[in-house]
Amino acid sequence: MAEGYRALEQHDAGLLVTVGGGSPIDTAKVIAVRQANVGQLSEYMGLHKIPNPGAPLVTIPTTAGTDSECTKVAVIADTERDVKMIMLSAPLIPRAAIVDNELSLSMPKRLTAAVGVDTLTHGVEAYVSKKRNAMTDPLALSCIKLVGEHLRTAWSNGEDRKARAGMMLAACQGGLAFYNSSVCLVHGMSRPIGAVFHLPHGISNAILLPTVTAFSWESAPDRYAGVARALGCASQTASDRDACQALLKYLQKLNEFLELTQLSQCQNVTRETFDQQVEKIASDAIASGSPANNPRQPSQSKIVGLYKQAW
Ligand SMILES: [Fe+2]
Repeated sequence: MAEGYRALEQHDAGLLVTVGGGSPIDTAKVIAVRQANVGQLSEYMGLHKIPNPGAPLVTIPTTAGTDSECTKVAVIADTERDVKMIMLSAPLIPRAAIVDNELSLSMPKRLTAAVGVDTLTHGVEAYVSKKRNAMTDPLALSCIKLVGEHLRTAWSNGEDRKARAGMMLAACQGGLAFYNSSVCLVHGMSRPIGAVFHLPHGISNAILLPTVTAFSWESAPDRYAGVARALGCASQTASDRDACQALLKYLQKLNEFLELTQLSQCQNVTRETFDQQVEKIASDAIASGSPANNPRQPSQSKIVGLYKQAW
């Protein structure tokens, strides 16, 4: 990041263009606003902490899933503290996004799976969030529906342009939905475990989504049933309870289909470190603020229990 900021200063650039997945896009967002704001990066963490807009930024995403191309959100890893800092400020919103599914055709399967489930999680969390509203619901439902229609095909046949275009659109809609209604417990729990074990964001989300949904659905059965119907795993006439049960099965099977692993099977994740760190990870999850948007509120000890279930 420091190198990127130096390059911006040296070239006296009036515009930044960033190409890639969520990490380069988030990095460019923070480089762009650094010019016009003072203080340490850690002071930018949280809601509305970056007061001034920086150089205009154009984003060109090459993955369909992080949704960073159109949001006010940036997640930057603080490697000294093992914390993923989430920044949510209007000056981080890119000036323009060029969303072209052609650029996502060469994504490998594992990346397609991880960012695809991340997009699904954005749609789901935007739809069940306590901060949801009439503007975000249609975007969230459309995002979920598109994932239901296209993710498996995009994973099975990466050259399928229709599926890739569907996932690109889903990603953009999911981004617009969640940054106006906030993400919830999955993202709250995903960031700290990702920081400690250096897991890709989409992988840690995918691991947690079925467990967190099983914990949460009874506090908002109508909303989770809406998710199930949008995904196409429950009929319009099914009861909310039956639809939620179908959703739980669907999420489990989707992870199996996409060959997404459990936490215990991820590289560099050891039970010893997990046991040592799980209390800190749970405390960082609560500190992020995202769990407060969840339909069902977990205590810190409950979050520890959910991590253990996802193990
Ligand atoms: Fe995400």
